[in-house]
Amino acid sequence: MSHTRARPTWIQVLIGLFGVAALVLVAWCGVFVVRGLLSTELFTTFITRFPGDAPRLASTPEGIPAFVSWTHFLNAFFLVLIVRTGIRVRTEKRAGGLWTSTRVKKRRMSLALWGHVAVDVLWLANGVVFVALLFISGHWARIVPTDWDVFPNALSVLLQYISLDWPTENSWVNYNALQQLSYVVIVFVAAPLAAITGYRLSAVYPTSPAWQRILPTELAKRIHYPTMLFFVAFVVVHVGLVLATGALRNLSHMYAATDQVSWWGFWIFAATVVLMVCGWRAARRDDWIAKPAAWFGSVRLLKR
Ligand code: HEM
Repeated sequence: MSHTRARPTWIQVLIGLFGVAALVLVAWCGVFVVRGLLSTELFTTFITRFPGDAPRLASTPEGIPAFVSWTHFLNAFFLVLIVRTGIRVRTEKRAGGLWTSTRVKKRRMSLALWGHVAVDVLWLANGVVFVALLFISGHWARIVPTDWDVFPNALSVLLQYISLDWPTENSWVNYNALQQLSYVVIVFVAAPLAAITGYRLSAVYPTSPAWQRILPTELAKRIHYPTMLFFVAFVVVHVGLVLATGALRNLSHMYAATDQVSWWGFWIFAATVVLMVCGWRAARRDDWIAKPAAWFGSVRLLKR
């Protein structure tokens, strides 16, 4: 399939450049306004009272346990595959192959959709293991707020980020409040939303009218895709901050499960990026998806 896109005119390019310059200017003004605010007595008192750390239960264990490291990696890996196969499901006009279920003969779908559903199941299983271990280990209290003070502290962190004078919290012991809120939202709001709406759009959702009424297809679609965009936006900001606030130390925490700063975390992270790039490319190959798909049904590859 070939796309021919009209080239932008020079007026459009100029408007675009002015737009970008205006955005930079507004952001710059924002930094100065917030810096001005933070130098007033009111805000100095506020930041002293709420420095930005997430309130912490005394019983919360320190550090990143090994299970967080590997479930976190698998989560990112499966997410890459989910996004790639999801894009295929949305944009492909003609399937590169068809899968028909052995169990339910009427169940038939493109290989791209089969791949999407298959990695969804793996991603969900990994998520269930992560959440179960989170509660068994007591690590849950690091990402679930336990005190209302999380909100003023999160505002404090936000102001400090905007002022470009970034909080240097010790994330091995404790996350900052904004970090904690973003983690709890991604794990306990965004992931379940993606799962529920995905289940609604899948072939295994019950067809009886009562079930259909609980969550209309249109609504599920309108939530499912923006949830994916939210995940992507989260990852961009999350990885940006990980790299901008002491990359080696943060990567040692998450990828080597240690507070000792060395290049180990970085190299493990780099290896996972290579795997993700391979996964991204593999997700386009219907002849590869066909192999596992054939274990669960019959597969027909189609010429494009
Ligand atoms: C490959 C890209 C990624 C990198 C480099 C990365 C890096 C990190 C690091 C370094 C931490 C610990 C922060 C610290 O010690 O200050 C962390 C925590 C976390 N990340 Fe990521 N991350 C990535 C992708 C993702 C994705 C895709 C998600 C979810 C959609 C995610 C969700 C989380 C969560 C929930 C935590 C808190 C984990 C806990 O303590 O239980 N990350 N990440």
